[in-house]
Amino acid sequence: MNPWTNPDLLPLPAAVALANGFTERAASTEQHALYAALIHAAAPQPGQRWLDLGCCVGTLTHQLAALVGAQGSVVGVDISAAMISLAHGRQQHPALRFIQADATHLPPDLAPFDGVTAMRLLLHVPDPLAVLQAARQAVKPGGRLVVLEWDWGTLALDHPNRTMTRRILDWRCDYLHGDNWMGRKLAGLSAASGWDVLEIQAHVTIARQEPSGLINSLRHAADAAHQAGVVSPIEYTDWLAELDAGLANRRFFASMNDYLVVAEAGATS
Ligand SMILES: C[S@@+](CC[C@H](N)C(=O)[O-])C[C@H]1O[C@@H](n2cnc3c(N)ncnc32)[C@H](O)[C@@H]1O
Repeated sequence: MNPWTNPDLLPLPAAVALANGFTERAASTEQHALYAALIHAAAPQPGQRWLDLGCCVGTLTHQLAALVGAQGSVVGVDISAAMISLAHGRQQHPALRFIQADATHLPPDLAPFDGVTAMRLLLHVPDPLAVLQAARQAVKPGGRLVVLEWDWGTLALDHPNRTMTRRILDWRCDYLHGDNWMGRKLAGLSAASGWDVLEIQAHVTIARQEPSGLINSLRHAADAAHQAGVVSPIEYTDWLAELDAGLANRRFFASMNDYLVVAEAGATS
């Protein structure tokens, strides 16, 4: 089960732990750079109205609110009551509102917006095209869409055991927590849902030493592959030992791409 498809299906303490783990990762230098890239591409102006889909605890939503100011407004939407309640619990901004809703079926009275953001949402939803269509309906003519997703298929790792590396990474990409090829799908899905794609950016995260969110993700991938029986206990232990040896002798290298798409609602589509 992908816990992010609806965190409310988890017992509450597990949903809170999921949110806390996410908030911790969001604070890393690597994730900071991605939030900053998205904010730069969105360029929300004072007085504008923005919609943040799959807002979770509101990390991006707060950043948008700071930029639209008290004359503007930002609505954060999330399917999970637990995440919305945690978002409410954070320091509030006068421009902010959080509501629980499925991004596939947005309440019609929310629109219209100057722009919509969705970061790490589309990989978790069963119908990403429907979410992008709903977003398209929610903006004014000329309104903006800014979406960002990782692509685990772009993960490059220098590791002495290629066979085991492929087995762990391919399994992580294809079977754990959503559609991990979403990054490469963003431009096509945006165009297919009626948006005019203006710009596609690739953001490369490179890790050579700890602390690193990417290295933590690799360790989690190995743990999960081990627990799922994709690798044996000895293969798991050896693979991690070799990864650690690479870090210790400064030969370690890993990189992964996130893709960011900026699109506009043309007057006619
Ligand atoms: C990985 S978190 C992304 C958090 C946030 N966008 C960020 O980057 O800081 C994914 C969020 O999407 C929410 N979500 C999943 N399916 C959804 C849907 N159909 N509609 C709205 N939110 C959804 C989950 O509850 C979760 O909070």
